[in-house]
Order: sequence, then C-alpha cells, then structure tokens
Amino acid sequence: MCGIVGYIGFRSAREVLLKSLKRLEYRGYDSAGVAIVNDGLKVEKKKGFIENLKVNFDGTLGIGHTRWATHGVPSDRNAHPFVDCHGNIAVVHNGIIENFMELREELISKGHVFTSETDSEVVAHLIEEYYDGSLKDAFFKAVSRLKGSFAIAAIHRGERKIMAVKNESPLVIGIGDHENFIASDIPAFLEYTNRVIVLRDGEVCEVSDDYVRVYDMEGREIRKEVQRIEWTVEDAEKGGYEHFMLKEIFEQPRAVDDTLRSLLARTSDHWGDFQRIAIVACGTSYHAGLTAKYVIEELLHIPVEVYYASEYRYRANVDDSYLAIFITQSGETADTIGAARRAKAHGHRTLAITNVVGSSITNYVDHVLYTNAGPEIGVAATKTFTSQLMALYYFAITSAERMGRISHGRYEELMRSLHRVSYWIEATLNLEDRIAEEARRVAESGNMFYIARWLNYPIALEGALKMKEISYIHAEGYPAGELKHGPLALIDDGMPVVALVPEDRLYEKMLSNIKEVSARNAYVIALSSREDVEKYVDTLLRMPKVDPLFTPFTNVVALQLLAYHTARVLGREIDKPKNLAKSVTVE
Ligand code: G6P
Repeated sequence: MCGIVGYIGFRSAREVLLKSLKRLEYRGYDSAGVAIVNDGLKVEKKKGFIENLKVNFDGTLGIGHTRWATHGVPSDRNAHPFVDCHGNIAVVHNGIIENFMELREELISKGHVFTSETDSEVVAHLIEEYYDGSLKDAFFKAVSRLKGSFAIAAIHRGERKIMAVKNESPLVIGIGDHENFIASDIPAFLEYTNRVIVLRDGEVCEVSDDYVRVYDMEGREIRKEVQRIEWTVEDAEKGGYEHFMLKEIFEQPRAVDDTLRSLLARTSDHWGDFQRIAIVACGTSYHAGLTAKYVIEELLHIPVEVYYASEYRYRANVDDSYLAIFITQSGETADTIGAARRAKAHGHRTLAITNVVGSSITNYVDHVLYTNAGPEIGVAATKTFTSQLMALYYFAITSAERMGRISHGRYEELMRSLHRVSYWIEATLNLEDRIAEEARRVAESGNMFYIARWLNYPIALEGALKMKEISYIHAEGYPAGELKHGPLALIDDGMPVVALVPEDRLYEKMLSNIKEVSARNAYVIALSSREDVEKYVDTLLRMPKVDPLFTPFTNVVALQLLAYHTARVLGREIDKPKNLAKSVTVE
C-alpha cells in the first residue's frame, strides 16, 4: 500500500510532487521517489521519509510515490518509480500485481533486466515491451496483462502526458487550468485545485496539460463528472496543533455534528427491515462495529454478529440472509472490500459506512452512509471512529423507530441525546490537562489493562489499541468480568489498569471487578461521572454525566487523549507509528 501522484502543467513538478507526496505520507512512508521529464527522464528515490529525498532536477511533468512495503524490503532499490531497461519509461504503482512472477519470467526470457524485488517493476518492462511510439497504446496493452489490485501511473521521456489506471486501489484526477494532477487521494493536490474526477475500477486515464480523457479497458472513452470538493487545504493540515492526531481529537465535536447533519439531510434510507445483522470491519472500525452490536441489540432486539473482515471473508456461508454492514473510514481496506464482495455474492443486503466519498467500497455495496469527519491524517483513527459511532447510533435509532421497536417518545429522547453528543465530547476534551498528568505515570509502565463491561467493553479494546499503536506500550482490553479467568495472573504491583465505570446497570459489577485488581496492587485509573468511585481507585478522571447508552463517545475521547499524551511523553512519532499505515489496501 502506497501513495502515488502525478503532475503535468507549468509549475515546478519537483515542488508539486514533493508537496503532494507529503500529504499522502499517511498511506505509507518507508521510501519515496519521483521521476521528472527534463531533457530525458530523471529519477530520484530513497529509503526513508520524504524529507530524505533530495531532488536536484526539475521539469513540468512527473510522477511520484511514497511506499509501504509489501513485496521487497524497504530500500533505495525497491523504492518507486521504476524505469524500463533504457530509462525511457517511468512507472509508480499502489497495490499488488498478483501475476507478477509469471510476467517477470516472461520478460526476463525476452531480455529485460530487473533491478528490484518488487511486483511493480514488471509494469515498466511490460510497457517497454509493447511500446511502438505511443505510450497510450503500450499502456493499454500492458494493463490488460495485469491481475490484482493496482493504481498505476506511467510517463515516457518523449511524450507529454501521463497514463494512469485504477483497479481496486484509489485514484483521483485534479483538474486545473493548463495543468492537471493525479493522486491516490484528494488532499495531495487540494492546494492547487478542488475540481476532481474520481475514477472507478477498470478505468484508464490520459492526462495532458489541457485535457483529461477517461476510457474503459477496451479504450472506449467515458464521460465523467467533475466534482467540487468543499474541504480546504487547512482541513488537511495541522492547524496549529503539534500533531494531526491531537488536532483530529479536538475536531470531534465538529466531526460528529457534521456527520449527524449530513445523516439527517438524507431523504430516505432504503435498506428496509431485517431480522439479523452482520457487521464487518478492521482495526478501529471493528471496535465501532462491536459497540454498535450492543446498541442495536439494545434498541432493536435482533441478533448482531461482528467479524474482523479478514476472518469473515473465509468463513462458511451458514446463515440465512442478513443485512451486512461494512465499516471502513478510508473505504479502501482490502479485507473489508473483499468481505463486501463476498456478502454481495451470497445475496446479503449490504451497507457501507465510510468517510470517503466515491471510495472503492461504495462500488461493492447496495447502500452507503457517509460519515462527514473530513480527512483524517493521523494513522491512529480518532474522529472517524466517533463519526462512525454517530452513523451507527443514527442507524440503530432510526431503524428501531421505523420497525416499531421503540416508542416515539423514546425515539425523540434518543435523537435529543444524539444532538448532545458534541457537547459531551467538548466536556471530555476539557479534561485534557488531568489526563496528560496521568499519562506521565502510565508512560513509565510496560504493560497495562483496560477493563469495562457491556457497550464500553469495545471502548476498552479501542483504548488499548490506541495505546499500543502510538506509545508501543503493551495494553490489552478485557471484559471486566473475564479478568479472573486468566489475565488476573499478569497483574503486578503498580501495573496501570484503566477501568470504565459509567453509571449504567453494570455499575456495581464494575466496582467488584475493580476491587479484584486493586487487591492485587494494580494502579487503577477510573473514568466515571460518579465521585464516590474515588474511594475504590488510585485516581479518578471525572467524566461528564451523559445518557448511559452514549458513554462510549465520551470514554473513547478520554482514552484517545491518554494514549496521545503517553506517546508524547515517550517522544514517539505519533502521526506515523512504526510498522503501520493509515489505509491497508493489501490482504
Ligand atoms: C489501518 C489503520 C487503522 C484502521 C484500519 C481500518 O490498520 O491503521 O487505524 O482502523 O486500517 O481502516 P478503515 O479505513 O477500513 O477504517
């Protein structure tokens, strides 16, 4: 998984490509490179962050790449762009070419010389093999040989155009005046233009200074709509915060409100009634799904099963038909897309919840609900998570009302609560200094637990995930009642245990579980709106008092801040944690 960019126009291609790559760094950052046409074709590529890439040539046509390694270790050699044997053609690729081994052997037998271990390099040699004076013709022929997922851009030293293709990896075109852009994602070129064409799978584009043509794989031209994007560049930048993650944590009141507003503006929801639900997602989105299970079961009284997308894809199809909900902020996660295709193939009704308009997942489902969180750059998901919760709560509440599972009075009460979520999150953000103090204590530990019950159990998992991802402290989330069946053996003197203690029907039970860990000398940090919890714990973070069904929103925000400040004390690369990438477009 990687980010690709391309520029053709009148500006310095070096400047445009490097700036655009920087905005795509969230897609991977283990190596980067550019190729620019300038009296020939020049390439510079290097292992490491984009800052390490020193480009001492320029031109007005070029392509670039930021990499997250799949085939071949991160190295200068395996960095993109790749060139053909004669240095005429340069190629960047995001995705996986599944049949690259056989293509590579074929090309080697024809005399091509490979310089890397990547799957991507075959594309440069394939285009070379077919090149007969037209990059466009050779590109079509080469692409027709590829199997797998790919967004690819190619240039030739003797032609003023960029050829690109999209199949199961994202690609968008930015339309300017006498200049055009391509990229894996819109923020890459938003500084220059907000007019965008979103490509669909199987579409090829030919981009020159003054025109953009989109074709299907057979070369027939397709008419595409140009969309205007309303985000500003600042939306995609740090806006004065030390890290994107902190900015995005603080954007949550707005993100959930914008999401709610866009959901309320929908005229109708067409997915009808259902008797079962399966929710499928990865990572943080999976935790949103798990929280939703409790909320939906509470309000709709129907069974909900939640699956990791990578597991769902390969299970037997044993159930009667159900509504399958796919949650993916990026809309590009390969496992989730694979799972959606499978659900559809088995005849289930499918609904996607995503933050990215026109993202790949939307091509594979019957219905889409958009969150409206704006672009999220920090690798650790924050505002997209609470926005997903907002969409899922909205779904649960409106479905419960429509299917007659709750009274109109209860519906109105729940909708009022939904409108209050942004205030409750604001109130939680005010606890930042207290949480930062606690983070100093947590930063000294190597292991910790998060415990909770019922609909806050997934929030314990999410709190632990946030801590692992960005601080590298080993943290595990557990249902509080389950600790005594094993994990209690790991509790040591002073080990931090974060306990979520909302004022709900399990309050007393949570207190008993806290006593179990306190008795083993854990250092208990409780999150609760009840002052009297203080007597049972080492430290209490006094949470705002909210409707019990809505405590996941406030608790998760506090846990995001705890992870953030712990990672900050430890001096971690918060926005770019090691080994991780924002959007994982490989299985
Ligand atoms: C990656 C990210 C996680 C994210 C997961 C699912 O692993 O690092 O933060 O939760 O992908 O992403 P999605 O875009 O499908 O929600």
